[in-house]
Amino acid sequence: MDIRTQLRELMEKNNYSMAYIATATGIAKSTISMWLNENYNGKNDKITDVINNFIQREKERTFDEDLPIVDISIIKYISEIGRLCHTKGKIGVCVGVAGLGKTVAVKEYAKTALDAILIESDSGYTAKSLLKEIHRRLGLSGKGSVYDLMSEVVNKLNQSGRLLIIDEAENLPYRALEITRRIHDKTGVGVLLVGRNILYENLRGFNNQYDQLYSRVKYYKQLDRLFLQDVIRILDAAGQNPRLADTYLQYSGGNTRKLEHLISHSNSIAQFNGKTEVDVAVIKKTSKLLMG
Ligand SMILES: Nc1ncnc2c1ncn2[C@@H]1O[C@H](COP(=O)(O)OP(=O)(O)OP(=O)(O)O)[C@@H](O)[C@H]1O
Ligand SMILES: [Mg+2]
Repeated sequence: MDIRTQLRELMEKNNYSMAYIATATGIAKSTISMWLNENYNGKNDKITDVINNFIQREKERTFDEDLPIVDISIIKYISEIGRLCHTKGKIGVCVGVAGLGKTVAVKEYAKTALDAILIESDSGYTAKSLLKEIHRRLGLSGKGSVYDLMSEVVNKLNQSGRLLIIDEAENLPYRALEITRRIHDKTGVGVLLVGRNILYENLRGFNNQYDQLYSRVKYYKQLDRLFLQDVIRILDAAGQNPRLADTYLQYSGGNTRKLEHLISHSNSIAQFNGKTEVDVAVIKKTSKLLMG
């Protein structure tokens, strides 16, 4: 597509005014307007270069920020286990390496199962702060002693058929994880713990600390890596050629976060090197730059 049409389409799609383009490119509004209408008398090539650059930047930006959620196998596995824990009131654990797409998947599940309570934990959580957060998420004040918080949470959740999802559960100290077990025991709600592989190792532990929790785990899934079909779907959503799926899978190690970086940076590198599209050599080169 010719560059002027590309700019017109971009402006229309994103509602960009001429003034916006002028600010973003540093070219005067009147110059852009004349250039667009092919009656600019100055150095057309220079303007074309700048506009081209601008369009490429916009494409990259759109790619980084707006890649839609793709229905990959990680989403399927997590939602299957989520649904089982939810409907049967059991405890489940899903683990996998960083960047696989676990958080995206639990958020997707929580979007469809509106009564699920999704807690995104971090290493600052204690047993009490976790309880407070659950208390708040149930529409309560989040205030009180551990005993009061616990009894009110139990009251509210009792036989409610809801699901408690703890994302990045490997960050929780033992006592906080124990809270989720007690809530489960007292109310019958399902619990889904999601995190990196270390979560499962902790639960199995050497010193039997987690025995009570571990022995209640009914469903367990170790998430591995993306399948070729997942990569094809992601490439498709990103408007990229699915022909390169094998290579992308190989050089990303089947990791969603790495794959997205690889796709986005391969694009930039191909453009930088004056190639019209990404090829195997570009992906190889980019993967070296990104992952050493
Ligand atoms: N289903 C998906 N569709 C599109 N992009 C995805 C999808 N899942 C993951 N991603 C991309 O991969 C990135 C990493 O995903 P996410 O944060 O869910 O990984 P994670 O497994 O929770 O990692 P961590 O263990 O580091 O928390 C996301 O920021 C997003 O860009
Ligand atoms: Mg995560």
